[in-house]
Amino acid sequence: MVRSSTFHILLCWALAVNFTLGDNTGSKKPRRTRLRSSAWGFPGQNATFDYIVVGGGNTGLAIAARLAEKASVAVIEAGGFHDQDNSNGSVVPAYALTGIPFVAVGTDYPRQPLIDWDLTTVPLPGVGGRVIHYAQAKTLGGCTTLNTLSYLRATKGSHEEWARLAGDRAYSFDNMLPYFRRSVTLTPPDWKKRNAPNATFTYDASAFASGKGGPVQVSFNPWVDPAATWFAKAVQTEGFPMSTEGFSSGTLSGFSSWVPLTVDPVLSERSTARAYLEDVILRTQIIVYHQTQALKVNFDPSKKATSVTVATRDLEYTLSARKEIIISAGVFHSPQLLMVSGVGPAATLQSHSIPVIADLPGVGQNLQDPFTFSIATGLGSLPTGTGYVTSSSPEIQASILRDYLEDAAGPLTSVGGYLSFEKLPKRWRQGFGNRTAALLGSLHEDWPEIELIGAGVPDGTGSGTTGLLAGVLLRPFSLGSVTISSASMLDKPVIDLGWLTDPADQELAVATFKRLREVLNSTALAPVRVGPELVPGFEAVRTDQEILEFVKANGNHIWHASSTCSMGKKGDKSAVVDSRGRVFGVKGLRVADMSVLPVNLPNHPQGTMYALGEKIAEDILRGADK
Ligand SMILES: Cc1cc2nc3c(=O)[nH]c(=O)nc-3n(C[C@H](O)[C@H](O)[C@H](O)COP(=O)(O)OP(=O)(O)OC[C@H]3O[C@@H](n4cnc5c(N)ncnc54)[C@H](O)[C@@H]3O)c2cc1C
Ligand SMILES: *[C@@H]1O[C@H](CO)[C@@H](O)[C@H](O)[C@H]1NC(C)=O
Ligand SMILES: *[C@@H]1O[C@H](CO)[C@@H](O)[C@H](O)[C@H]1NC(C)=O
Ligand SMILES: *[C@@H]1O[C@H](CO)[C@@H](O)[C@H](O)[C@H]1NC(C)=O
Ligand SMILES: *[C@@H]1O[C@H](CO)[C@@H](O)[C@H](O)[C@H]1NC(C)=O
Ligand SMILES: *[C@@H]1O[C@H](CO)[C@@H](O)[C@H](O)[C@H]1NC(C)=O
Repeated sequence: MVRSSTFHILLCWALAVNFTLGDNTGSKKPRRTRLRSSAWGFPGQNATFDYIVVGGGNTGLAIAARLAEKASVAVIEAGGFHDQDNSNGSVVPAYALTGIPFVAVGTDYPRQPLIDWDLTTVPLPGVGGRVIHYAQAKTLGGCTTLNTLSYLRATKGSHEEWARLAGDRAYSFDNMLPYFRRSVTLTPPDWKKRNAPNATFTYDASAFASGKGGPVQVSFNPWVDPAATWFAKAVQTEGFPMSTEGFSSGTLSGFSSWVPLTVDPVLSERSTARAYLEDVILRTQIIVYHQTQALKVNFDPSKKATSVTVATRDLEYTLSARKEIIISAGVFHSPQLLMVSGVGPAATLQSHSIPVIADLPGVGQNLQDPFTFSIATGLGSLPTGTGYVTSSSPEIQASILRDYLEDAAGPLTSVGGYLSFEKLPKRWRQGFGNRTAALLGSLHEDWPEIELIGAGVPDGTGSGTTGLLAGVLLRPFSLGSVTISSASMLDKPVIDLGWLTDPADQELAVATFKRLREVLNSTALAPVRVGPELVPGFEAVRTDQEILEFVKANGNHIWHASSTCSMGKKGDKSAVVDSRGRVFGVKGLRVADMSVLPVNLPNHPQGTMYALGEKIAEDILRGADK
């Protein structure tokens, strides 16, 4: 008796403390730095906040941090801390290429259960039934802790299409520019430190905030990969002049450019979405539930989302939202969480005995995943960044480590960095069928169809280098899907990437392959190119049919999947959220992350997700202020 009432008092005290921590609206007192330990939620205790953000990733942490400046906020994140759980693999820029082996696409990828969701696809019919591992980060910072750091933005024309599909001018490039500027801080290149006088460039500084912008750091690597300078020369010779403004001002197609990286230039360490959290955690009352998975969103009878059932390990409890719940769990888990919570295609929900809260046929549909493949050629002993980083020579290892640790310089600071975009030239589109030509013709004139990425990697002999030139199909017409295999978030989502199921993508893939061969055959590469094409080999793969078979057997994703909870206009049956991320058919629930893009934009998406997070947070706060 005594024991249980003591327990009860303790519990009430704990709940009261937690409640106070969760509420920062009352106090007028200037806030002092709080104890770091008071920033983390109590596992097992129910608690209430103004806003709950599910998923502490690229978009979610931007939203949560901005909301936390004005209201009480909890972040629910299934993972932990990338710099602990993935060691320096997620910290040292060059390790993005050499130190995160588990992002591999084959099903024999080395597992890293602390930070990867371990997702694999169903057998994909368009590529001969291959099963693919799709790395997705499970950690505070989300995929910004695993990605390849490139920072760029989509084109003005593709933003027009986003605005058109969403029915909202807010998504035009110019209207999004303030959010792009607000989310990142760009440090100009350090030309003295940069080792390559043959890799200079100009860029449009006005695309970034002057001075301090947002918490995420963007900078130009102080060390340039020699192999990248040769690929740069080749693409420039073959029809991709170097942009004078860079790739953050809304133009990509027809140009190539050095792109900056999401790297803090002072230490040359990866800068992630966690920078948002680190910025607010000491000066607001934000509460983070890490190692905590959202299992279900709960609704009241008026279909207002009121709470989230969560689990820290196997301890289940309930976190309630006075105002709203925002789902930012990424392209695969956001639609899964909606479905298990009763929001999705009615037939799917019913087949798993999930009560239907809102019948939204678009949830999990419309998946768009850019497809990529590469051709390999010998580059003799051309030095490369990955060659230095993986060198077996103790002298080289000691020297690059010293450069990095003492001067934040050298090969460990660098990740590729030269990108090219275009619509395929006329000579390579002659073979397109009418439908393919019409689909590609429907894209805005500034919308690149393909991207080229060149890289030099060690050839395995210890001294040689292989050059890889990748082509990316930027506007996938093949559609995939995400669905559920049960009513539980503890089971994995069922992922079909759709690759090459649309003949237009097959035709574009074949033409792109030929374009890659043309660029690799450039006279500009002649001084470093050695021997005949290595993979697939000119003799082995010649005809269109052979090329198609090659790309089917060897193509990959570049982890840029989108559009499984597409944004659209009210009345559009396939739309899941409106232009402010509000889920149709329910109240108090938004989605904001890669899943809401109504169309896959031609870019690398992390910068767009930061800007989207800023934009949705502003929508929420404006609405709440009304
Ligand atoms: C290997 C790789 C390389 C890439 N390279 C680049 C690049 O160079 N440049 C670029 O711009 N983009 C790149 N990308 C893509 C880009 O990083 C992602 O598209 C983007 O970060 C996704 O943002 P998001 O907010 O949609 O999701 P995420 O950042 O993935 O965030 C989702 C978060 O939700 C959490 N979560 C999921 N389910 C639950 C649940 N039930 N409960 C609690 N938490 C949950 C996850 O753990 C995760 O932290 C790359 C991606 C990868 C994987
Ligand atoms: C990263 O960690 C590994 C193993 O702990 C170590 O060998 C390596 O030197 C570290 N890299 C840097 C740049 O500190
Ligand atoms: C550019 O300069 C670097 C460093 O001197 C060199 O290694 C590389 O080969 C040069 N690239 C070209 C294309 O000349
Ligand atoms: C937590 O909330 C859930 C759902 O409202 C409720 O069933 C449970 O009893 C609560 N737990 C405590 C300790 O109050
Ligand atoms: C393609 O279009 C052209 C002209 O628009 C037409 O003559 C031709 O028959 C069409 N081909 C097919 C296969 O539809
Ligand atoms: C490579 O270029 C040479 C001329 O520079 C040309 O003769 C040859 O046909 C080209 N090969 C390919 C595969 O394009």
